[in-house]
Amino acid sequence: MLALRDVSVRLIDPETGVAVNALDSVFMEVEKGEAVVLVGESGAGKTTLLSVAAGLIRVTAGSVFVGGRELTWGDRGQDRWLRAKVGVAFQFPERSFFATTVREEVGLTASLLGWEPERVTAAVERALSAVGLSFNLLDRSPFTLSGGEKRRVALAAALAHEPELLLLDEPEVGMDLRGQKHVRELIQRLKNEGKALLVATHDVDAAMGWADRCVVLKKGRVADTLALTDPWPEGAGARLAPYSWDYTLLRRIYREAHARGWTLPDPHRARDRFLAALTARAKNPAAPGEAEDFPKPMEGPQ
Ligand SMILES: Nc1ncnc2c1ncn2[C@@H]1O[C@H](COP(=O)(O)OP(=O)(O)OP(=O)(O)O)[C@@H](O)[C@H]1O
Ligand SMILES: [Mg+2]
Repeated sequence: MLALRDVSVRLIDPETGVAVNALDSVFMEVEKGEAVVLVGESGAGKTTLLSVAAGLIRVTAGSVFVGGRELTWGDRGQDRWLRAKVGVAFQFPERSFFATTVREEVGLTASLLGWEPERVTAAVERALSAVGLSFNLLDRSPFTLSGGEKRRVALAAALAHEPELLLLDEPEVGMDLRGQKHVRELIQRLKNEGKALLVATHDVDAAMGWADRCVVLKKGRVADTLALTDPWPEGAGARLAPYSWDYTLLRRIYREAHARGWTLPDPHRARDRFLAALTARAKNPAAPGEAEDFPKPMEGPQ
């Protein structure tokens, strides 16, 4: 559904005039019915990659294919076709809000595609239900909503016209735990419906349970591509651990390591040392563990 072939994007910082390789020779694919998570530190190129896939940024080199069609720059017919195929929820929803009501905002793409008003209304209601937003918000300005509500409106706006490819930029940020769970379930459902999903996140823990693959970006390059099938493939844990911020994966590795008799520092108390010890272990499984100066993990679920 989406393929990037040797894609590079060079951007010039407007203030300093310094050029940055926001993407550097990136190859990646997302198939129908597949959810791929994009992780990487701030500035790694996640948003740039999603923008390229949405046809919003011109690539400096390489090719981008959506639904088997190679994107070319400045082709109006293609832009319209792409709008129908792709749904995007941006990292900062309020920057992309355009309309004066939630109703209009969520139905914007469907309207631009020329759908009949009744069909747009039905699509808006379906999308609001899918993201768990009350119809009471329909006539509110999207700009006056709470952070979590704005995210949901952005998600609903991405879904309403039923695109085949969804590009979601940190969709859970600013949501409470219930909202985050809802987003995860929604992604799972969209995947089961056969959509292709590419989701950027800082925290790989948020992707556990629904992502098929994880692409790790570092300074614009694909540093790693990992299958995320359960159980985790051997070695994947150590490579993903730096991107575990709610500690779900770190706790799991910690427990498994202790069960195998490895000594690793407690990640909650000494995250950096835990990661360093884990990396050393992954490189050389025969390496001696750290001196154990922390208690063993508690038994039972955590
Ligand atoms: N409009 C722009 N002009 C110049 N440089 C840019 C522009 N947008 C992004 N960059 C640079 O491109 C690189 C990649 O940025 P990008 O926003 O894609 O990262 P990201 O992984 O989404 O980060 P974050 O996790 O903070 O959202 C960074 O070095 C950034 O400074
Ligand atoms: Mg970003």
